[in-house]
Parts: sequence; C-alpha cells; structure tokens
Amino acid sequence: MEEIKIYVAQKLKEALNEKYNLELSYEEIFSMLESPKDKANGDIAFPCFRFAKDLHLSPNVIALEIKEELSAEDKIEKIQVIGAYINFYVSSGKITDDILGKIIEKGQEYGSTNIGNMRNVLIDYSSPNIAKPFHLGHLRTTIIGRALYNLYKELGYTPVGINYLGDWGRQFGLVIEGYKRFKDEYELEKDPLHSLSDMYARANNLAKDDEKVMDLARENFKKLEEGDEECLNLWKYFRDTSLKEYYRIYDLMGCKFDVYTGESEFSVSERTNEVIDMLNEKGVLTESQGAKVVNLSENEPPCIIIKSNESTTYALRDLASILWRARNYDYVKSIYVTSYEQIHHFNQIFRVAKYVVDEKYIEGLVHVPYGMVRLKTGKMSTREGTVIYLQDLIDDAIKKSMKILEEKNTDVEDKEKLAKQIGIGALVFNDLKHNKIKDVVFDLNEVLRFDGETGPYVQYMYARISSILKKASFDKNNIKDSSYEYNDVETEVIKLLGKLPNVIKEAAENYEPSILTRYIIDVASAFSTFYNSNTVLSEDENEKIARLKLVYGAGVVIKKGLNILGIETPEKM
Ligand code: ARG
Repeated sequence: MEEIKIYVAQKLKEALNEKYNLELSYEEIFSMLESPKDKANGDIAFPCFRFAKDLHLSPNVIALEIKEELSAEDKIEKIQVIGAYINFYVSSGKITDDILGKIIEKGQEYGSTNIGNMRNVLIDYSSPNIAKPFHLGHLRTTIIGRALYNLYKELGYTPVGINYLGDWGRQFGLVIEGYKRFKDEYELEKDPLHSLSDMYARANNLAKDDEKVMDLARENFKKLEEGDEECLNLWKYFRDTSLKEYYRIYDLMGCKFDVYTGESEFSVSERTNEVIDMLNEKGVLTESQGAKVVNLSENEPPCIIIKSNESTTYALRDLASILWRARNYDYVKSIYVTSYEQIHHFNQIFRVAKYVVDEKYIEGLVHVPYGMVRLKTGKMSTREGTVIYLQDLIDDAIKKSMKILEEKNTDVEDKEKLAKQIGIGALVFNDLKHNKIKDVVFDLNEVLRFDGETGPYVQYMYARISSILKKASFDKNNIKDSSYEYNDVETEVIKLLGKLPNVIKEAAENYEPSILTRYIIDVASAFSTFYNSNTVLSEDENEKIARLKLVYGAGVVIKKGLNILGIETPEKM
C-alpha cells in the first residue's frame, strides 16, 4: 500500500501544480492522505478542505477540478469525488500482490520500521512494592508495559525497561516493627512474602489504636533513612527476598527488564539534595505546616516534597529519578505504567519537573494509567480475602490448560510446556484485549476457552496455519510463479494483513496495546472465514500457490502480533 500511496501523492503533486500553481512538497501531500474507514469510499482519500480559503473555491469544487487532472491507470482502478474528498480505488490485484510480496520478502520483519532512529524510550513498568506478594493488580502494569516495550522496539526506538521497585517509604518502618514483634510466629523461609505482608498488616492494625506503635514505626523509617545498620539489614533482607520471588514470576511470564532500580536509590542523598536545591533556587519550595511543598494551583493540594519529619516523599524520589533518567538516557519518551489511582501523582510531578529538567524532557513524560482487575465475583480486597495472588492464578491457568489438552488428546511432545504457553498466553491476551483504562473482569474459564476472542483461539489458529504450511512443504524462498485473481474473501484477508505496520504505529502512539489485540482477533476471524470456505491445498496449482501465500502471510502477522503482546506461538497444539 505504501508504494501506491507514494504514487498517488506524486500524481496529486503534479495535478495541484498544473491546475492551481500550488507548490506543495511531496511529503506534505503524502501526510495528508487518509485511509477511509468505509470500504465504499475506496482505499486512499485526499481531503481538499485546506485549499478552500486561498483558492476561494468550495472544497468540493476543488476536489472535482483536481480529479479532472488525474486519470485512473495501472494501479488505480477508479477515482471518485465524494464531497470534499478525492477517493482512489486501488486495483485489487495490485494491492494483494504488493502486500503478500512484502510479507514474503520480509518474513517476521514485516511491520517493523525505523522511525524511532534508535532513540531511547524509557518504560517504567511492573515496579511492585516489595515485602508483598505479587497480586493480580501487578499483572496489568507488567503486561501492558512489556507490550509497549515491544511496540516501540518495532518502531525502531531503543526501549529501556525499568523496574522501579517500591522499596522505600514509611511503610517499611511498619514492616520492620511487625517483623520485630511477630517474626517467630511465621515460617519465613517457606512463604516469606505472605508472612511479611501479614506482619505488616498486623503492625498497621496495632498502630491504628496505639500511637506509640506508630511512633516506633516512624522512628524505624527515620533510622533507615539515616543509614542505621540494624534497620538497613532488615530492609535488605526484605528486598532480596522479594526480588527472588519476583524473578521467579517474571521468568515464568518471560518478562525481562533492562534496569532494576527503586525508590531507595532516590531517597536522602545527593540525588534528592540536588532536586531540593533546584527547587529552592527557583524559589518554588515553601513551608507548609512544617513540610516543604511546591504550590501548583489554588484548587489543589500542594505537591509535598519533604515531610515535616524531614523524610523524603514518593514525589521527591520520582523527581530525582526523572533528573537521573534525563541525564543518563537523554530520552525522547519516558513512560510510566500504573493504575489510574496514580493519575494525580504523575500529573503533579510532571508539572514540578519543569523546575528540574529541560523542556524537551518534560514533553517526553507520559503517564499511562490502566483500570482495575475485578473478579467475576466482585472487587478484590485484602480484607475480605478475595485477593488473587499471581502465582496461584498462573498455576491455576496452567493446570486448567493441561486438563483441556488431555481432554482433547493433543498429541505433542512436551505437553507441560504447551500448557504453560497456553495458560499464560490466555491471561496476557485477556488483559490486553480491553481498552487499558477499563476495569477488567476476570473469569479463568472464559479466558481459557478455545473458541471466541481468546488467546488459545488465536494460538490455535496459528498452529493450524503452521501445520498447513508444513503439510504443503511451503518454502517462501522458493515459490513458483502463478497467476491467480483472489476472490473477495481472500482479498479481504490480505487487505487486513496490509494494515499491520499502521496498527503497530497506532498502538504505540496511543499507548494502547488493545488496538493490536483487537486487530489480531480480526485477522484470525477473517482467516477462519476464508479457511472454512476455500480449499487451500487445491488441485489447481495456481490456486494452491496463491492460497498458500495468503496462509503464510496470515501466519506471519498473527505470530508477530502475538509475540509483540508477549504471547508465545506454539507450532503445534
Ligand atoms: N511502586 C508503585 C506501585 O506499585 C509504582 C511505581 C511506578 N513508578 C514510578 N516511577 N513512580 O504502585
């Protein structure tokens, strides 16, 4: 399609010059071209609104006049004016050949570009709070963040995945207090994170009724910030133990980070002092009830930088880390993926950051909020014991997948591996299927279904494609020439495959992996319609070759799409 757009832009450039003496650059015209949503309006559209004022003509008249300068030929079947638009109808044969030709040439590279020019895009994701087990809520940032990472990579950026652990803050004063009081009651080795979070919850409860306990917790955190050895050792133990558990889960999910850092690296230190100095220099740091704050606007609470007991805040630590990220990575984008509960936090620190880093780094800051995960049975709550821990959920999903494979009598070598690929893939797919800001309602039986808009369904479609290609010994480097005109159903599938490059771009630019997920669902279902009504391995050699090319193309697109989302694509299922 790209080539045809280039061709159309060239023709329009000539026509505009010829008719109105307008000297528009080819790039400018190219960027004005649209893809009509409705197929009835052709494949490429050129809007004429912007010329109306200068030419003192209505957009419709301009469109008609330009059209007179153009003639349908070769690649273009028909040109038609509808309102202010000139619509181009590309010859089907040309489109299908172009798209499949490109996919066959590029293979799994199809859809990748280098518009990013290797520039750095930072993605702060997952970033769990230590001393707590990983629960279902953490799943979303991990999955969305990873998908964004892969999307930006496809666009030729250098993504940097940052896991910024929540490993500092006054809650660790309470964890330490809980640990000191209750550690003997737990089998820490066996289940360290549940034990620690339970000790924390108990200390927290005590502190609610007993101010003295709260004071001790505050004291612990103060000591921690001052580098007290006992507190620091305990904290290190919490951190190491937590990381060990998280690594296991990341490993299971195939998730990797380029950088592990955390709030602790941005607590009382040169790094925070520098930010405080900058805020002081700009004269924006003021006293308020013993705390140091930056006032933003009349109608909102100020951004608290230092608490009245001199502790650093989440905001200050984030500001120090923005400065560090700007210096270390000279980023063009720095993305933060968290639940929507933190919208206010990021909104504030991004505004305060203008006192700390250059304008260009402010422009690159993006908060990507997402909705909550809810169980079909109701909201998740720690208090009511309805929290789902990720490890349990993953185990469950794998177990259930295994059962399905056994029922289906699936014949593969490594059934356990396949059950893992399906189970985890199903969780990821379900998570990325919804617009990210929407709350996700969760039902394991639903997400594991082999039919419907699920991960297993799309994986299954891919496995089927692989087996067709294998059976036909399809070799993309050795395709015989053939002449064949694709029918409507086939043309539809191929045109859809042609959209992948754009879909990747759109999903990345909108920070919305669901755009890609929905697209994969569309491809899989269009492919299934084709497959159910056409014989691929047909007697007619021309037909067979042409259809195998289509099957191959669909395979490339589904595999690529799923892999970007972080989902594996087994060849056999
Ligand atoms: N630890 C936080 C949480 O679990 C998320 C951190 C997000 N990143 C950041 N730079 N503040 O809610």
